[in-house]
Amino acid sequence: MLKGKTVVLGVSGGIAAYKTADLASRLTKEGVCVHVLMTQNATQFITPLTFETLTGNKAVVDTFDRNFQWNVEHVALAKKADAFLIAPATANVIAKLAHGLADDMLTTTVLAASCPKIVAPAMNTGMYENPITQDNLRLLKQYGFQVIEPASGMLACKDVGKGRLPDTDTLHAALEDALSPKDLSGLRVLVTAGPTCEALDPVRYITNHSSGKMGYAVAREAALRGAQVTLVSGKTALPVPPGVERVDVTSAQEMFDEVVKRAGEQDMIVKAAAVGDYRPKQKKDQKIKKAGDTMTLTLVRNPDILAYLGEHRRPGQVICGFSMETQDLVENSQKKLMAKHADMIVANNLTVAGAGFGVDTNAVTMITAEDAVPYPVMGKDEVADELLTKLFSIYKSKQ
Ligand code: C5P
Repeated sequence: MLKGKTVVLGVSGGIAAYKTADLASRLTKEGVCVHVLMTQNATQFITPLTFETLTGNKAVVDTFDRNFQWNVEHVALAKKADAFLIAPATANVIAKLAHGLADDMLTTTVLAASCPKIVAPAMNTGMYENPITQDNLRLLKQYGFQVIEPASGMLACKDVGKGRLPDTDTLHAALEDALSPKDLSGLRVLVTAGPTCEALDPVRYITNHSSGKMGYAVAREAALRGAQVTLVSGKTALPVPPGVERVDVTSAQEMFDEVVKRAGEQDMIVKAAAVGDYRPKQKKDQKIKKAGDTMTLTLVRNPDILAYLGEHRRPGQVICGFSMETQDLVENSQKKLMAKHADMIVANNLTVAGAGFGVDTNAVTMITAEDAVPYPVMGKDEVADELLTKLFSIYKSKQ
């Protein structure tokens, strides 16, 4: 999502400045061009060399640095930036930005920049809660800045309260959000993810190896692109993606009920869940005792949610299923596309290393009535993005 973008990180003088080094490192590894601007005070907490080593770019402090193109650089960086994040933002820097003061490289460049600007305040609770700081933050919001709420906890000064710089994931998510196109805004997207669990008795169940990562990636990307997202999820260890409403389910029947209840109001439905095809005919009330050397279970079919949705879709709705086959992947998935009346089937190529359950990558073929397009191994977030772009184009063609 951020690869190839230019992000300017503004670092001001708070103890949390060291945390921004982690973000700079992560962004650089992801292929982002990271430039760091530091206030003079920030250099008391962390050295420019740290950021220079991590980003490969000069960390600029002084507007009048003679070893640098000081006369144009603040304008050049302001023009080049796709997003600007000031983290940590001290009360002092927030006050300066709110009032248009531009007396160093950081504040000068922010004032010249027209890209999305985000501030992450981090300071002592008393300073943060002071009405002056709160007024300045309000002003910044009015001027179009996004303000990331500080986290609560024990601060470096040993006070307990609001004022901690949020973790790297939160800062990263704010940048992703700022840089995502909002092309899906106004659309409702329902995603299913994870495995289903079919109870045998109060302590045992039948399930599969699905981690939920693919479906969660689709939900996350759809929300980043502005959609209103509902994620109906089987048992996973994954956190709820920002801005997504999650509905937890256990069995296929529960998933069917929760999905069907909401299906009528959705513009797109992506069924990435690994739904159990069968469930035990009977769930025993008591734990099953062992007896004899073998045991026979009688299973009955679960409802096929995707097939039901394909049959009962409302006009203009787009439906996408997933397919995991160990043989004749494309032919079997094409049959599934027809049988379940789906608009697209994303076929997982399980024979390729780096694809399938549990991992962060996938190798898929996206199959529609028109074509079958194979993709190389990609991050699940990239697969999700590509899938949503395809579904959105099908959606537009149906309106
Ligand atoms: O038929 P098969 O299970 O291979 O199809 C996989 C697709 O169908 C997935 O999108 C899965 O979420 C969906 N499915 C379903 N309900 C079932 C079984 C599969 O929605 N009972």
